Amino acid sequence: MRVAVAIFSVFASVAVTIDATVYFKEQFQDGDAWKSRWLVSKHKTDYGEWKLTAGKFYGDAEADKGLQTSQDARFYAMSSRFEPFSNEGKPLVVQFTVKHEQKIDCGGGYVKIFPANLDQAAMHGDSQYYIMFGPDICGYSTKKVHVIFNYKGKNHLIKKEIKCKDDELTHLYTLILNPDQTYEVKINNEKVESGTLEDDWDILPAKTIKDPEAKKPEDWDDRPKIDDPTDTKPEGWEKPENIPDPDAKKPDDWDVDMDGEWEPPVIPNPEYQGEWKPKQIDNPDYKGTWVHPEIDNPEYTADTSIYKFDNIGVLGLDLWQVKSGTIFDNFLIGDDVKEAEEFGNETWGTTKEPEKKMKDAQEEEERKAREEEEKSKKDTADDEGDEDEEEDESKEEEEDSPTEEGEEEIPMKDKDEL
Ligand SMILES: *[C@@H]1O[C@H](CO)[C@@H](O)[C@H](O)[C@H]1NC(C)=O
Repeated sequence: MRVAVAIFSVFASVAVTIDATVYFKEQFQDGDAWKSRWLVSKHKTDYGEWKLTAGKFYGDAEADKGLQTSQDARFYAMSSRFEPFSNEGKPLVVQFTVKHEQKIDCGGGYVKIFPANLDQAAMHGDSQYYIMFGPDICGYSTKKVHVIFNYKGKNHLIKKEIKCKDDELTHLYTLILNPDQTYEVKINNEKVESGTLEDDWDILPAKTIKDPEAKKPEDWDDRPKIDDPTDTKPEGWEKPENIPDPDAKKPDDWDVDMDGEWEPPVIPNPEYQGEWKPKQIDNPDYKGTWVHPEIDNPEYTADTSIYKFDNIGVLGLDLWQVKSGTIFDNFLIGDDVKEAEEFGNETWGTTKEPEKKMKDAQEEEERKAREEEEKSKKDTADDEGDEDEEEDESKEEEEDSPTEEGEEEIPMKDKDEL
């Protein structure tokens, strides 16, 4: 009976879209075998170590195993190779799940897609990549999804701000790049951003520029209003703004030798009319604002192959993490949007609810345990009521407080790779 069920489920998972190509798929379902597929860079000697685990809470103890960053304040650099391909004329889908179960303060959660000629053993922050995609969190200000494309050796960041998830659950990130130079970013199988490469990145120079030959004519009058030349200042307008206070009197004991000449204090003049200004009239010579004429930018050449990357061959994780604990899993690089969505449903989609349930249950347990502990502490203190003990307790609390969560300083992240 059990054998029959197992065979059926194998057939079911094979029967997916036929003409879709999957270039790379990694779910870490075969124990330590991933170590033969992933290579840690030797560029530095102290890169952080990766651990295979489903983490503190999960939907499925086996299926949710992924690679977790395991040491705080480290750089991580590791990559995996696949059969090189070009995305010419086809969609390119890059997808993976990330789980920051450690309450991340500062650290990357993105992947880099490299050309096949990358020397994996020498990979580092400045190794040239094709695409960088995924969430990046640092403090309160940086919580975004990077989408960076390399074009002729230069990296270009997306101009739009895409917010990433910053909770402790697993999330699915998908980048779709189409041959018509449109793109889409999805989080948890829902579109969060889309557009075109030309509009949302400054990859190509501007199509038009201000004509360097054109100059505003000397006699161009762009004043819509002018002073009315027939308007004149009325007689007797000149009244001082302040006058000596007529009610002020020299004090009786004023001594000219000692105090100097007495002068009354000044007060605002009630007759003061303000500065005179002529009436404004429409300028008969007004020509409107001068618009700098534009010409085609000689530097611009249309390029319909910005999206195209030849010889894509390596997926890398090149990150800095202050607080470790991020789990990467369910990597997929392919050419079929629907299949990626389905794979997302089968992985993240089936995991998310039981994972959340387990997390909530753990938090409830912890809360209860804390309450119990506080209660028993209080009972002991009440029972014994001993002065020495109370002193001990308050000392303990002082020692504890600086390491409380959320109070650590957040070091600035090294941004050298951008
Ligand atoms: C993925 O799951 C969503 C929500 O259940 C569903 O609407 C969608 O059709 C699924 N996609 C695929 C390709 O199976």
